[in-house]
Amino acid sequence: MDKTEIIEKTVGFVKSKMEGDSSGHDWWHIYRVWNNSKMLHKKEGGDLFVIELAALLHDVADWKFNSSEHLGIKIVDDWLNSLGLDKSTCVRVIDIIKNISFKGAGVEDKMESIEGKIVQDADRLDAIGAVGIGRTFAFGGKFGNEMYNPEVPVVMHDSFEKYKNSKGTTINHFYEKLLLLKDRMNTPTAKKIAEGRHRFMKQFLQQFMDEWRCKQ
Ligand code: ADP
Ligand code: NI
Repeated sequence: MDKTEIIEKTVGFVKSKMEGDSSGHDWWHIYRVWNNSKMLHKKEGGDLFVIELAALLHDVADWKFNSSEHLGIKIVDDWLNSLGLDKSTCVRVIDIIKNISFKGAGVEDKMESIEGKIVQDADRLDAIGAVGIGRTFAFGGKFGNEMYNPEVPVVMHDSFEKYKNSKGTTINHFYEKLLLLKDRMNTPTAKKIAEGRHRFMKQFLQQFMDEWRCKQ
């Protein structure tokens, strides 16, 4: 199989898994991350084939949608092996997927390869700005979180365990993750794009609080 065919087959596989999801992790999220990744690759370099595979498969293994992180990774690993890819490509893609997730405000990112840095930035660009706001409210509703409750404090999680098990509000998620992403982008290109999206989220939160407090 040539690389184009492998990417096409992977698109079909990912679509079948994610299509119709209502938590902001549907096929179109993957499609945007794939496009963002290709755009970042043009400016930042890296191995495009590894970048595309990791972008397409990055959420198939997510701990939130599988009974365990281990099982999620196995699904991706089995898929990559079924394509007859060489061991080194499989390892590079799996390594990106294992390290892509945000794990808490106080938990450092561990992405080392340029391919991984690009896909992580592409995923994070889709977590902020107007699309990010939309996805966050969709996610909160789907998982039964309150939209906003002034009695629930913001928590800056210092471990993945605490972050994973927290039951905060959707508005708190902006302070616990989304507003931190601008400074956690890896590449200069993504950092620049993140600035405008960050500003838009701050403006949204200001308006939300003004309405909440009857200021206008
Ligand atoms: P990552 O790729 O870092 O693992 P996630 O899949 O956890 O990212 O999150 C992707 C998006 O899902 C977030 O940017 C946000 O929109 C939404 N999301 C995740 N966790 C929460 C939460 N606790 N409350 C509201 N939205 C959330
Ligand atoms: Ni994602």
